[in-house]
Amino acid sequence: MPLIRVDDLLNHARTAGYAVGAYDAVDSNFVSAIIAGAEAARAPVIVSFAEMHFAHYDFPVLMAAAMVAARRARVPVALFFDHGTGLETARDAIRHGANGVMADVSHLPFSENVAVTRSIVAMAHAVGVTVEGEVGYVPGVAGEDAILHPGEIQLTAPAEAARFVAETGVDVLAVSIGTVHGRIRDEIKLDLDRLAAIAKAVAVPLVIHGGTGLADEQFRALIARGVTKVNYYTGLSDLASAAAAAALDPIDAGYTAGLDAVRAVVAAEVTRTCEIFGAAGRSDAAQSACRLWQEDGTLLRGN
Ligand code: 13P
Repeated sequence: MPLIRVDDLLNHARTAGYAVGAYDAVDSNFVSAIIAGAEAARAPVIVSFAEMHFAHYDFPVLMAAAMVAARRARVPVALFFDHGTGLETARDAIRHGANGVMADVSHLPFSENVAVTRSIVAMAHAVGVTVEGEVGYVPGVAGEDAILHPGEIQLTAPAEAARFVAETGVDVLAVSIGTVHGRIRDEIKLDLDRLAAIAKAVAVPLVIHGGTGLADEQFRALIARGVTKVNYYTGLSDLASAAAAAALDPIDAGYTAGLDAVRAVVAAEVTRTCEIFGAAGRSDAAQSACRLWQEDGTLLRGN
C-alpha cells in the first residue's frame, strides 16, 4: 500500500477520537515487527526514525528497507523523521523517503525555535511533507533510564503554543504536560488541564512524547483531550533487549533466534498499544480518509 499523508492521518485520528502510535525503529527487524503488530491490530501506524539513533544504524539503508516494507503493508503506514535537529537533517530525511518530520528545537529560545521550525515548514510543505514542532521541553532520552537524564521539564504554555502554531505553520504540535522520555520508575503525573487548554488554543493535532510507562487510563485521558500521536520507543527497546538476552544461546541457537524473539515481542507490544490508543480496527477508515503520498510529494489520489 502506498504511504499516506501524516497530516491527513492525524486529522482523521482527531475526528474519530483515537491516537496513532509512532514507534521508533532501529533496524529492519523493528520495522517488520512494528508493521506486523499494526497489521494484527488492523491499525494505521507511523514508523519513526530518531536522529539520535543514527549513530547505531545506516539511515539511508534502513529507509530504503522501510519504504519496501511500507508499500507491502496491509495497513496505512507513514515514515517519520523523529527528533530532527535542524533544516539540513530534515531535508536529508525527506530525500530518503520520510513523509513527516519533527523539528526538535524547543530547547532554543522561542524566537529561534520559531525561525528554525518555520524554515523546515517551508521546505517540507513544498513536497507535501508534514511537520511536527514542539513548544515546551520533554526531558530524558528515549531508550535509556530517565533517571540518568534529569533535565528540567518545561511545560507548554497554551498562549505560547497558539503563537508558535500561527507563526510557524506546523501541522502538528508536540506538547510537554508531564511525560519524560525513557524508562521511568515513578508514576508520571499528567497536567491534563493544561493539555485541555492547549487543545482549545490551537487548531492542530497534538503529540505526546515519552509514551513508555503511562497507564492505560492515562493514554485514554490524553486522547480524550486531543492527543492524536503517541511516540513510543523505550517499551519496545526494553522488551527487545530482554527477549534477545533470553533467546541468544551460542550453543543451541544462533543469532537468528534472537531476531525472531525480538520481532515477536515488538509486534505484540505494538498490537497491544494500538488497542489502547483506539487505533485498532481503523486501518480501512484511515486509508479512505487520507491522501496518498509518494516520495516526490506528488499526490497519488486527492480527496
Ligand atoms: P519513550 O522512549 O519514553 O517511549 O519516548 C519515545 C519518544 O518520545 C520518541 O520520540
